[in-house]
Amino acid sequence: MIEINNMSFSFEQEVLRNINIKFESGKFYTILGPNGSGKTTLLRLLAKSLHSDKGKIIINEKELTQIKPRMLAKEMAVVLQSTEIEFDFSVQDIVLMGRMPHISRFSSESEKDMEIAMKAMKATNTWELRDKSINTLSGGERQRVVVARAIAQETGIILLDEPISHLDIHHQIEIMDQLKQLNLNKKITIIAVLHDLNIAAAYCDHMILMYDCGVYKEGIPEEVLTKDILKQVYGLEVYITKNPRTAKTFIMLF
Ligand SMILES: Nc1ncnc2c1ncn2[C@@H]1O[C@H](COP(=O)(O)OP(=O)(O)O)[C@@H](O)[C@H]1O
Ligand SMILES: [Mg+2]
Repeated sequence: MIEINNMSFSFEQEVLRNINIKFESGKFYTILGPNGSGKTTLLRLLAKSLHSDKGKIIINEKELTQIKPRMLAKEMAVVLQSTEIEFDFSVQDIVLMGRMPHISRFSSESEKDMEIAMKAMKATNTWELRDKSINTLSGGERQRVVVARAIAQETGIILLDEPISHLDIHHQIEIMDQLKQLNLNKKITIIAVLHDLNIAAAYCDHMILMYDCGVYKEGIPEEVLTKDILKQVYGLEVYITKNPRTAKTFIMLF
């Protein structure tokens, strides 16, 4: 349902070279890789916040360049890394913005929109913050609010760039559980850039490991998280075992 074909991208220097990735509908993907390996750039290309002439992106059989922003917002919600919001909106206003692609131009949000926004806030533990100004929140609270907005958008695809990087471990798990539920119950395709290899292994179906301007390895966690690959990509000696309860791959540092 999402295809990246022969995509290359450069700022001053080349960041991505000949990327080919297929994302299947309804799966949970994580994108991993060291700092500067192009993860954010890749997500921004998918979200149409960057453009490259070298390569093609196809979303639900349409070329991304042909999809209008409002249409795209009905198909894909995006949680980008920088969550700075300039204006003094309340949390509730921010989450309601997720409903905008669904509200016709000359009307305002309905009770149904309010209810969807409320559910998204409750699911991300931001309901208590609803009347606060976004600018008064901590980084972690703000991160939960932008995830709530993405959930309220009710799209088939959610892209997230390091959505749990500012959260304490409790809220990390809460957001990951919420994303997993959306993935399992509503068949929403999740594509999340994460740093924590163990959390990625615990939640995803498929991992994409970026390194040296390309996809170094992709596959199920067992295929990607090997001693040799992690040594090569992160320069680390690791011990790989399995979580005794979940049987998911678990990495320990030496
Ligand atoms: N706006 C920009 N202008 C110039 N270079 C950039 C810009 N954004 C990112 N880069 C460079 O592109 C490379 C990849 O960045 P990025 O995609 O943000 O990596 P990641 O998210 O994996 O840490 C880095 O070397 C970074 O310095
Ligand atoms: Mg990044």
